[in-house]
Amino acid sequence: MMSDVNVKSVLITGTTSGVGRALLAHYAQSGVKVISVNRRRVAELESQYPSVRFECVDVRAAENVNQLVRGLAASGQLPEVFILNAGINRVDNDESFQLSVYGEVIDTNLYGVLNFVGPLTQLPACSVERHVVAISSMANYAGNPYGLGYYTSKKALTACFEVWSKMYAGTDLVFQQVMLGPVPTAIYTMADRFPAWMVWIKNLFSASLDGTVRAISRLALTRKKKLIYPLQAFPLYGAIRLGRCLVPGFFLGRKTLAGKTRRAGMGR
Ligand SMILES: NC(=O)c1ccc[n+]([C@@H]2O[C@H](COP(=O)([O-])OP(=O)(O)OC[C@H]3O[C@@H](n4cnc5c(N)ncnc54)[C@H](OP(=O)(O)O)[C@@H]3O)[C@@H](O)[C@H]2O)c1
Repeated sequence: MMSDVNVKSVLITGTTSGVGRALLAHYAQSGVKVISVNRRRVAELESQYPSVRFECVDVRAAENVNQLVRGLAASGQLPEVFILNAGINRVDNDESFQLSVYGEVIDTNLYGVLNFVGPLTQLPACSVERHVVAISSMANYAGNPYGLGYYTSKKALTACFEVWSKMYAGTDLVFQQVMLGPVPTAIYTMADRFPAWMVWIKNLFSASLDGTVRAISRLALTRKKKLIYPLQAFPLYGAIRLGRCLVPGFFLGRKTLAGKTRRAGMGR
């Protein structure tokens, strides 16, 4: 059976926690050359993985990302796989729409990926395949209205990767994406703002970190455009979509997270 880390080198963004950290451990323990891109230095992480090259770059900083990619290319160290994983989730659309918070999420989840793709597509073609893997979300199928930046950033990310995966088909650039369902990590999920039964159902459909990193690393060995993982969570998002059509007002954000009627006092 082929190993799921049958690559020489990988770059991963956002490895201080969650999926990124588990990916870092998975590849580093298998002897793969890892370049880890974080917005802050974590001494404990860096001493735990002395073989890993840690780059302190905020993925929102286009010029710094550009310099990183061009520097790696110029020194012949451009990895075979890029896992563009860094992401955040925020409440930006509850009592009112919070433009600056929305922008922060879009800058991280969407531009934080596009900032890598720009310079990568400008490099000359070569004989080595480069896999560019975006970590998107099943939020694409039924997004949370209170986290509008998260929902729309993942929708836009998915649309970009659908275009690029077809546009660059058969070339050295392989665009791939993961439609990831719930995984227990530090990412903000608003669990404290929803009824316990909703959180319980979501947890029931969650994937393990271990299973998630194996699935992502296996995807990067193929030229498959899209991975839906874990498949068991897919019907949950389908049910939310259906619920929105069939149950008036279901999960549409008509009430605030605190249960208040939106724009009460309009006399309607
Ligand atoms: N967990 C889920 O249920 C789930 C479901 C679907 C999709 N996803 C996606 O999976 C990816 C990983 O999320 P996770 O669940 O592992 O969350 P997490 O545990 O919160 O990890 C997010 C990582 O992204 C980093 N990051 C955030 N902003 C950054 C920036 N500007 N520059 C560089 N790094 C930055 C964080 O660094 P700091 O420690 O410095 O904040 C952290 O290392 C995200 O794209 C997320 O949208 C997750």
